Order: sequence, then structure tokens, then C-alpha cells
Amino acid sequence: MQPNEYVKSLAAKDVIRVEMVCLGNICRSPMAAAVLHNKTLGITKPRFIVTSSGTSGWHDGEGAHHLSEKTWKAAGYTFEHISRKFQLNFFDEADLILPMDLTNRAVILNGARNDADKAKVFMLRSFDPSLSHIDPTSPEVEHLQVPDPWGETIEAYQEVLEMIERATDGLVEALTS
Ligand code: 4NP
Repeated sequence: MQPNEYVKSLAAKDVIRVEMVCLGNICRSPMAAAVLHNKTLGITKPRFIVTSSGTSGWHDGEGAHHLSEKTWKAAGYTFEHISRKFQLNFFDEADLILPMDLTNRAVILNGARNDADKAKVFMLRSFDPSLSHIDPTSPEVEHLQVPDPWGETIEAYQEVLEMIERATDGLVEALTS
């Protein structure tokens, strides 16, 4: 996806609030928040506030999965995380709501109250420049998912980290240039 008018308009803001969303909020979305938070620490205009949540609420109050945290720490990112459930009032706070997979996206869009809410929702990987040819409204959108590493080995978490790094680099580029 090329950044649309809404995304481009965010670059003029003083503060951009980004909500990363997955299912459990212990593996993918905390890692995505950790990476984007660290990548944007030195940027003062716009300033980034990065949070995350899960559509399930199954792990509310827990820290990140140990393999997720181990993976982002090994890559040099520092971030504290407590799991929480995605709430519909997050549409009021967030400028961008970035699901990791299509199930997360469906739950979020199902809760959207109007077109302005829907306009804030993008697959995180739609910002990966190498995937910009994929139309998020086509069946090809399945290739924009961050696969769920829960129950997998550390290698799966490392692959997720690489996907997240490419996507967040593209996101920062889209919001600061
Ligand atoms: P996440 O991974 O959505 O990336 O945090 C999962 C974590 C926990 C579960 C599923 C996915 N679970 O079934 O508890």
C-alpha cells in the first residue's frame, strides 16, 4: 500500500498514537510496540506514543511471552509490557490501529462505530515497502499477516521480529517524510 491521504495527514501532527493489536497481546503486538517505540524515541515531531492490546483479553495483566521479550531484547530493544484487551474506546485515542492478522482486523473492524474509526485500521505489514504491491482489500491481503508464533520455537519469534522491523521502518518513513 502506498500511504493514503489519512496516513500522510498524520505527519503534520505533534503526537501520533499507534495501537498494535494481536490476539493474546503477549507475543506479536508487544514486540511490534517495543520495536516502534525504540525506533521513534529520537523523533520529536511528530512524537510517537505506542501501545498494544489483544482482542481476546486472555492474558490481561500478564507480561510478554518470554520468547517474545527475549527476541526483542536480544535485538537491542528495551520495553516494559503488561497485556490488556482491545477496547472500542481505543478508537478515540489512537490515530492508527494496526492488527497483526486478518482475524484481529475483523474483530477491530466489527467494533468500528463509523468510517472515521475504520480509516484508522491498517494491517501492520501494509507499511512494509517490499509488500506495497498488495491491495489490502484483495484476497492477497493474507500475505500481509504476521503469523502467530505462540507455541512455536524462538526461530518463529525471530522471523516475526524481522517482519515487524521491515513494517515499522516503512511506517516511520511514511509518517516522517
Ligand atoms: P499473540 O499470540 O496473539 O501474538 O499474543 C498468542 C498468545 C496467546 C494465545 C494465542 C496467541 N493463546 O491462545 O493464549
